Amino acid sequence: MEPRPVSHSHSVLVHWLDPTDANSAGFVHGGVVMKLCDSAAGVAAVRHSGGRVVTAGMDRMTFNEPIEIGELLTLHASVNAVWRTSMEVGVRVVAERPEAGVVRHTNTAYLTMVAVDADGRPREVPRLACETDDERRREAAAQTRRRNRLAEREEIRAGRQGAPEPVD
Ligand SMILES: CC(C)(COP(=O)(O)OP(=O)(O)OC[C@H]1O[C@@H](n2cnc3c(N)ncnc32)[C@H](O)[C@@H]1OP(=O)(O)O)[C@@H](O)C(=O)NCCC(=O)NCCS
Repeated sequence: MEPRPVSHSHSVLVHWLDPTDANSAGFVHGGVVMKLCDSAAGVAAVRHSGGRVVTAGMDRMTFNEPIEIGELLTLHASVNAVWRTSMEVGVRVVAERPEAGVVRHTNTAYLTMVAVDADGRPREVPRLACETDDERRREAAAQTRRRNRLAEREEIRAGRQGAPEPVD
């Protein structure tokens, strides 16, 4: 498989927030932003892998400030790093009040998407070609997050040796 440049996966999702997106305080519900991040990441991963993907995990999600109903949300997603069948996708979310034209960076999310075949079995993905310093920096950061995630999993497993069956 030919390596694919990061730019091939870049995807933009725009959503105008309406009252059905609100929480009880009248701001945008965090779960709405998470769902949009998942969708944007899915498009980027489908573009890179050229087929079906599933979400394996959301590794990090920041909420920098509240988002108001009536704002326009734009999500930029691209593949940061790839392994055998999985990919880390980074999503940057900005909110804009259209009448004022002021854009704020409100969220960042990192999701792991796994490419699957028609039977839902993981399938290999093309390697990633990083072409700019920013892309190389994001790839290195994604490798660090994966290393930390795997090390954390091992540490928790080791701590459970001999403990009762876990509930999660
Ligand atoms: C994700 C899934 C396909 C992995 O299947 P699996 O049988 O565990 O496969 P493997 O152990 O071979 O792992 C496949 C890849 O997924 C990665 N992976 C599996 N679980 C993961 C997790 N929780 N977080 C991050 N990566 C994970 C593995 O590291 C591996 O990556 P690599 O091939 O690049 O090294 C499977 O767990 C699944 O279908 N989960 C449900 C997904 C879903 O329904 N999502 C919501 C709707 S889209």
